[in-house]
Amino acid sequence: MTDHPKGSTEAWEALRAHQRQLENVRVADLFEGDDKRFERFSMQAGELFVDLSKNRITQETVKLLLALAEARGLAARRRAMFEGQRINTTEDRAVLHVALRNRSNTPILVNGKDVMPDVNAVLAQMERFAGAVRRGEWRGHTGERITDVVNIGIGGSHLGPQMVVTALKPYTTAALTTHFVSNVDGAAISEVLAGLRPESTLFVVSSKTFTTQETMTNAHTARRWLVERLKSDKAVARHFVAVSTNLAKVAEFGIERQNVFAFWDWVGGRYSLWSAIGLSIVLAVGYERFVELLEGAHELDRHFQDADPNRNAPLLMGLLGVWYGNFFGAESSAVLPYDESLRYLPSYLQQAFMESNGKDVDLAGERVAWQTGAIIWGSPGTDGQHAYYQLLHQGTKLIPADFIAPARPFHALTEHHDILLANFLAQTEALMLGRTRAQTRAMLEEQGAPADRLELLSAAKSFPGNRPTTSILMPQLTPHALGNLIALYEHAIFTQGVVWDIDSFDQMGVELGKELATNLLGEVRAGASAPGTHDASTAGLLAHLGQLRGR
Ligand code: F6P
Repeated sequence: MTDHPKGSTEAWEALRAHQRQLENVRVADLFEGDDKRFERFSMQAGELFVDLSKNRITQETVKLLLALAEARGLAARRRAMFEGQRINTTEDRAVLHVALRNRSNTPILVNGKDVMPDVNAVLAQMERFAGAVRRGEWRGHTGERITDVVNIGIGGSHLGPQMVVTALKPYTTAALTTHFVSNVDGAAISEVLAGLRPESTLFVVSSKTFTTQETMTNAHTARRWLVERLKSDKAVARHFVAVSTNLAKVAEFGIERQNVFAFWDWVGGRYSLWSAIGLSIVLAVGYERFVELLEGAHELDRHFQDADPNRNAPLLMGLLGVWYGNFFGAESSAVLPYDESLRYLPSYLQQAFMESNGKDVDLAGERVAWQTGAIIWGSPGTDGQHAYYQLLHQGTKLIPADFIAPARPFHALTEHHDILLANFLAQTEALMLGRTRAQTRAMLEEQGAPADRLELLSAAKSFPGNRPTTSILMPQLTPHALGNLIALYEHAIFTQGVVWDIDSFDQMGVELGKELATNLLGEVRAGASAPGTHDASTAGLLAHLGQLRGR
C-alpha cells in the first residue's frame, strides 16, 4: 500500500520536497520579492474575485499541484461528471447537479436519455406552483391566502434552502415568511408551529428518500396539527406538498401526485438545492431570482470546465485544500463570511465538504493511507474575531481560512459596511504578516513597558503570521453571485475527491447511526434492553434514562 493515491507518486514526492523548501518561507517575503504576486494569484470566476496570493504558494507550488491533478486524471473525471457517467461508483449513479442548472440546455444523457426535458418540466411546475402561491391564487383549505411556508427536511434537504433563503432575504416578499424545521427534537417544530395559523400555512416536505426518520416524524406531527385544527383530512391537499425522488412513499403519506415535485437519483442530497429541493427558495424569492441563482452556478460550471488551470478558481481552491491537508498537516479549514446573511454558509459547506470527502476507502475499496476531507467550520465575521480568532492568530495549529465579502450591502448603513470590510482586510493582513518578537519588543519599549516584563510581554504579544487565507469578494450578494459562490465550492470539493481517489458522492458513514437509532427506539420507549444486546455503557445509559423517565 502506498501513502498516496494511485498514479501520483512522482507528483506527490515533488510536492513533499517542495513543501520542505517552503516550510520556513514567509508569504510576506514572497510579496517583497515579487511585485506581480497579487495579480499572479488572483482571478475572476464569474462575479467572484478570488485572491489566493496570501497562501503559502509560489508558481512552482501551483505547477506541482496542477501536475498532481493531471496525474490523478482530473480532466477526464470532470468530463465524465458533466457527461452523466456513473462516477458515484458505490451507488452506481451519475452525478448531475450540473444538469439542474444547465441553462444552455444542451442534452445531457443518462442511460441514453436526455435528462433536460424532465429538468425543465419540473422547473416549469415549480414556477407555476410558486407563482400561484405568491400571487395568492393558491389558497388554503378555508380559502385563506398562504402567508407562511414551512420547509421540513434535514441535511441536504434543509441546509441548502435555509442558507439560500437567508442569504437572499433582501429579495423575499413580506407577504410570505419561510420557516425551517429539521431537528427531530420536538422543541424545533413546536416553536415553529406555535407562531403559525394552519389556515395560512403551507408545508413543503423535502426528502429525497421520503424515509428519513427526522423528516417523517416532523411531517406527521405537522399533519396532525393541521388536520386536528382544520378538522378535515381533505385539508392536507391544500397545505402539504412534497419534494422527493420516492413517489410511492409520498403517496403513502397522503400527498396527491399533482402536489409532488420530483427529482432523480443522480442528484445527491447535499447538491440538491438546484433541484425541486429549491422549492422553498422559489416560494421565498420568486422563480426569476431562482433562475439567476442557477445561471450563476452554470457560469461557474463553465469556468471550472474551460478556464486556464492557472486561473481556474475552484480547481486551485480544491488543490490548496490538498496542499495544506496532505503536505502541511492542516486538519481543518475555516469559512468566514463577512456578511451576516451568509451565516448558514459554514454549516452548509460543512455538510458539502465533510459528507462528500470524509471517506476512508478509495474507489477500489482499499483503505486510504493519506489524509482526506478537512474539518470545515466557521461563522460570520466580525463575531468570530471576538471568539476563536485568537487561536487562528496565535494557536499552534495551521488553519487555512476563506474570507468572503460583498463590496456593497443591501442596507443603507454604509459606515457599518466600511467597518466590516476594514476588519476583513485587517484580519487577512494580520494573519499573513504577524509581528515578530523583535518588532513587538521595540513597540513595547517605545510604549515604556517595564524592563522586567519585556521578555514575557514580547513573547505573548508577538504573532507568528504566515497563516494562509483566501479572500473572495463579489460586488453584491445577488442570486447570481450566490450561485457562483456555491458552485465554486462544489467544484473545489470535486477536485479534492478526484485527487484523493474517493467517492465524494455517497454517504455510507451516516447509515450506521440511522440503523442503530431505529433499533434502539423500542428500547428507549421501554426504558430497558434485553441482556447482551448492547455494550455495557449503552445498556447502562438506557437503564439510567429509563429510571429518570419513570419507565
Ligand atoms: O445525513 C444523511 C443524508 O442522507 C444526507 O445525505 C441527506 O441530505 C439527508 O440525509 C436527508 O435525506 P433525505 O433527503 O432523503 O431525507
